[in-house]
Amino acid sequence: MTDAATAIALTIRNVSENDEPVVRDLISSAFPSDAEARLVEKLRDCGALVLEQVAVDEDGAIVGHVAYSRVTPAAIGAGQALQIACLAPVSVWPDKQRKGIGSALITASLEKLKEIGEDLVLVLGPPSYYPRFGFDPVLARKVQGPYAGDPFMALALTDDGSRLLPIEVAFATPFEEFV
Ligand SMILES: CC(C)(COP(=O)(O)OP(=O)(O)OC[C@H]1O[C@@H](n2cnc3c(N)ncnc32)[C@H](O)[C@@H]1OP(=O)(O)O)[C@@H](O)C(=O)NCCC(=O)NCCS
Repeated sequence: MTDAATAIALTIRNVSENDEPVVRDLISSAFPSDAEARLVEKLRDCGALVLEQVAVDEDGAIVGHVAYSRVTPAAIGAGQALQIACLAPVSVWPDKQRKGIGSALITASLEKLKEIGEDLVLVLGPPSYYPRFGFDPVLARKVQGPYAGDPFMALALTDDGSRLLPIEVAFATPFEEFV
């Protein structure tokens, strides 16, 4: 995190319906196309979102967004009762990136996920970014599904989240159209 980051006073809160148009613009401008923004809307519409939060600056402006969707464990095996979420996507306005907003948002939202009883979080993203939050590609090798390799990482939020692996999982349906 940079020095400038520590100067930003952020509030991290759940998304409300009124935020949705700004959230769509934010995600579309953070990524090269609006594919990720459409993914979030589909996840929202099909009830797959476990947690959706925004970072709001001291002027009340939304500066970052993160979504977590339900991942379903296979119906057999020790881990079938695990609560598993997928982090995707996370976005910060291009002109506000690298000021600590993404890190603050991810750290706070992971804490919230822990509070609401999630056991395991999965992410597909840059191996240079997510390990700083505890995401681990080695742990993710025990999670069988459509993704593999070092960009696929896992973070256990509870003892069960690592103890009850290996496990086979399915991601929410909108991911099938997205990839
Ligand atoms: C990724 C993103 C959410 C990070 O938020 P941020 O506020 O810019 O990040 P922070 O200021 O908290 O952290 C900055 C660090 O993240 C790294 N980082 C930012 N984007 C990165 C990326 N796409 N890949 C790898 N590292 C990245 C920076 O290099 C910096 O690293 P350092 O601390 O070692 O110098 C933001 O850059 C973004 O919206 N990017 C475009 C969309 C995107 O790629 N989302 C993630 C896809 S999984």
